[in-house]
Amino acid sequence: MSALFQPLSLRGVTFRNRIAISPMSQYRARDGYANAWHQVHLGRFALGGAGLVFAEATAVEADGRRTHGDLGLWEDGQIAPLAPIAKFLADEGAVPGIQLGHAGRKASERRPWHGETPVDAEDEAERD
Ligand SMILES: Cc1cc2nc3c(=O)[nH]c(=O)nc-3n(C[C@H](O)[C@H](O)[C@H](O)COP(=O)(O)O)c2cc1C
Repeated sequence: MSALFQPLSLRGVTFRNRIAISPMSQYRARDGYANAWHQVHLGRFALGGAGLVFAEATAVEADGRRTHGDLGLWEDGQIAPLAPIAKFLADEGAVPGIQLGHAGRKASERRPWHGETPVDAEDEAERD
């Protein structure tokens, strides 16, 4: 069988195979909080058999979000909606991962379908 489908152990963590899902920003969070979108987006990769499923770039402070739709972990309340997602991934045999990030000078852009330009009044009106 291909090595791709062989388990792999790294520093005490065993992956059921070597398939890893890259973090993919969804621009669907509100105030950095995960929701059903993230549950479904990430959960389907666990159901599909991936060994490691990364949650998208998750901002360590509000100003470090690339867009207002990014996930965040800058306040304790943001843990609660992520926890059941991580549990679901683990229950389905995948290792849950997360990419912590800060967008630096690229932070606070509008979402891609709005042109990745600086946040403007329309965005503030729509998303507070
Ligand atoms: C919809 C989408 C969202 C992405 N979001 C992130 C992200 O949150 N963090 C990141 O590092 N890369 C992000 N990427 C880049 C992917 O991680 C990158 O395409 C992948 O690592 C490329 O892997 P490959 O060279 O094996 O194809 C995103 C890519 C796509 C298509």
